[in-house]
Amino acid sequence: MTIVRLNSSEPVSIETGALIVGIHTSPDGPRTAPGADSLDQAFNGRLAEILTTVGFSGKAQEIAKIPTFGALPAPVVVAVGLGDAPDGDHDLETLRRAAGAAARSLAGTASAAFALPAATAAQVEAVAIGGLLGAYGFTKYRTNGDGKAPVGELVVLSAAAGAEEAVKRATTVAESVSLVRDLVNTPPSDLYPAKFAEIVQEIGAEAGLSVEVLDDTELRKHGYGGIVGVGQGSVNPPRLVRLAYEHPEATKRVAFVGKGITFDSGGLSLKPAASMDWMKSDMGGAAAVFGSLLALARLGVAVNAVGYLCLAENMPSGSAQRPSDVLHTYSGKTVEVLDTDAEGRLVLVDGIARAAEDSPDLIVDVATLTGAQIVALGWRTAGVMSNDDALREEVVEIAAGQGEAAWGMPLPEELRKGLDSPVADIANLQPERWGSMLAAGIFLREFVPDGIRWAHVDMAGPAFNKGEPHGYTPKGGTGAITRTLIGIAERYAGN
Ligand code: BES
Ligand code: MN
Ligand code: ZN
Repeated sequence: MTIVRLNSSEPVSIETGALIVGIHTSPDGPRTAPGADSLDQAFNGRLAEILTTVGFSGKAQEIAKIPTFGALPAPVVVAVGLGDAPDGDHDLETLRRAAGAAARSLAGTASAAFALPAATAAQVEAVAIGGLLGAYGFTKYRTNGDGKAPVGELVVLSAAAGAEEAVKRATTVAESVSLVRDLVNTPPSDLYPAKFAEIVQEIGAEAGLSVEVLDDTELRKHGYGGIVGVGQGSVNPPRLVRLAYEHPEATKRVAFVGKGITFDSGGLSLKPAASMDWMKSDMGGAAAVFGSLLALARLGVAVNAVGYLCLAENMPSGSAQRPSDVLHTYSGKTVEVLDTDAEGRLVLVDGIARAAEDSPDLIVDVATLTGAQIVALGWRTAGVMSNDDALREEVVEIAAGQGEAAWGMPLPEELRKGLDSPVADIANLQPERWGSMLAAGIFLREFVPDGIRWAHVDMAGPAFNKGEPHGYTPKGGTGAITRTLIGIAERYAGN
């Protein structure tokens, strides 16, 4: 992975492969942002003119590379747009995205330095994490050298108080998010439930997490009918992984539950081919839960946290569950499986019911749960539902602070009757498609014991970027909601 370090020298004197400078739009054309002021002199006061000549205006994430021909130790200046900043304020997400776009444009370069606004520790952290996440590459499966190596080293130019801590934190968080992306990008032939559990055991133990894995025999024995039902059609049997992080000064416990379908074919209710090729990403929730617990342990956050990864491969076969089968879930409730492609909720309710036994102060589940989330909110904005209005708003607000778009969604009471089953306690599907994201949320809520605050994050769209890279978000696995989970746990740290 790319490494990041701090340096307090002047941008004009730093020896680096590329010097990244922030540029604002203004009515008079491009204007250097704080951190880059001294640079203009190196270009004889003509930087704005040069940028205008190459058609660069300073719009957010716009990139222009300007050769320096010896005017600076760095052979190239990378100008990155920060948009307008009429009040001189730098939104942290603008900084993260700019740093990410610049780092992404420098794949194949040995080193680069950020002369971006970094006067506070928060800005330093934003630049560092944006840079690290933007530099991400997944080249493990390339043999032809097409996959350029990410920029090797990033230097944040800053003398801000607390900058060292900020860089350390950014590094730890970026490491987690990158791992989540790697897991999502790994083909399902190499990441099936048992393998996922093994990876978690190995890396989790190194970080000081306690890890327990229930295999399919134990899942059956202890009544995890949801996970068993979804996993029974695959030659790769399911797993439930429990992760625990304890801090001696913690007074609160958070529980995270992640949907971990390592591949979602739909099962016997088979998906059309065009909806299937990216279903390796259907374990993004479990990966985010794992990544967040790793980060909490490595950062030493004063909170207790448990994570449940509900791992199964949803496949059609002679042993697969059938539409109309009835599952006995861990909660004791029975579910009629009307559609085997609505499998996420089946594994999640087992995880949620188990998590409730830890008596947490709150449960947050994260899942690539419904196509309806994408219909409602698009590719980049997750839907947040809850049995507690204040908790829902808290999750949305924490996500926004991390630059992870999320929006509160209702759980309308009238949708519950659509889940009535003539044979079981509840059906896993409502007969109509309208409001499917909300109906899935209503289904999950039925399995949350009274008195437990619970929130559900549907990130079907945000978990995987099918489009072009943008900001610090690459193509493929994004690591979405990992930073939100870390943020939630931090909110409950201490007292
Ligand atoms: N994993 C899918 C949801 C999904 C869709 C995630 C697109 C990422 C991108 C989930 O298991 C699923 O198949 N949901 C069905 C539910 C339906 C059968 C009620 C859906 O949304 O179509
Ligand atoms: Mn499905
Ligand atoms: Zn799924």
